Amino acid sequence: MGDKRRIIAGNWKMYKTAKEAVFLVQDLEDQLDDLAQDDRGYDGVEVIVCPPSTDLKSVYTVLWQDKPAIKLGAQNMFWEDEGAYTGEVSPLMLKDLECDYVILGHSERRMYFGETDETVNKKVKAALRHDITPIMCCGESLEQREAGKTDSFIESQILGGTEGLEAGDMKSFIVAYEPIWAIGTGKTALPEDANDVIRHIRAVLASRFGTDAAQDIPILYGGSVKAGNIADFMAESDINGALVGGASLEAESFAGIVKNARK
Ligand code: 13P
Repeated sequence: MGDKRRIIAGNWKMYKTAKEAVFLVQDLEDQLDDLAQDDRGYDGVEVIVCPPSTDLKSVYTVLWQDKPAIKLGAQNMFWEDEGAYTGEVSPLMLKDLECDYVILGHSERRMYFGETDETVNKKVKAALRHDITPIMCCGESLEQREAGKTDSFIESQILGGTEGLEAGDMKSFIVAYEPIWAIGTGKTALPEDANDVIRHIRAVLASRFGTDAAQDIPILYGGSVKAGNIADFMAESDINGALVGGASLEAESFAGIVKNARK
């Protein structure tokens, strides 16, 4: 990959009330203010925040007023545009708040809310239909890793999640590789090991969509990323950035990651 895309996305998970979300995003704007800013992001790094759905409106309002280079994403959505689906949020509702990204198939949603590759695939298609870029997650458990099943498991997640898509769809598509054992544990994958799995993901995507399309798909690493370790991941050939949990909940630590993810 030549000049690779660099993306840092914050997954706030189920943290922050709407008011706290406003403070956090304003604080983040301040922390990033000394970086060169354009449509693409901060000094070549695209920055996305993914607050809980009840915070999307308040964060949208701040972003709309201040116009920083921070993009908005959601953490989940349903695949229908509207209907009798109590408790769900639709792609139309996200689009209305200029939510350009949506995390889909996070391991916590698969573990606690019964998401499968099939439901992830329906959501991915719905997101693409509405011009929302999916950040589709995959990642193996510790048992799978120890049993030598990482590659085959990841392959089934990638193929299942992208079933029925075409190469053109990949223009607006992001993958996040998050080994479950590294999420929120303080244990990170070794950058070279993460890069090996990410190269495998790219090869799987190439087998379905062709090498050219696969080369341009940003693939992020997630799992205990901090300001102190992001540069090691960015130095790897195939890693385009990070999906950050815990360290995205404070402006200073998240901004530190953005700064250290620069070229
Ligand atoms: P942590 O950065 O807290 O390990 O979380 C990673 C994650 O799950 C991001 O989606």
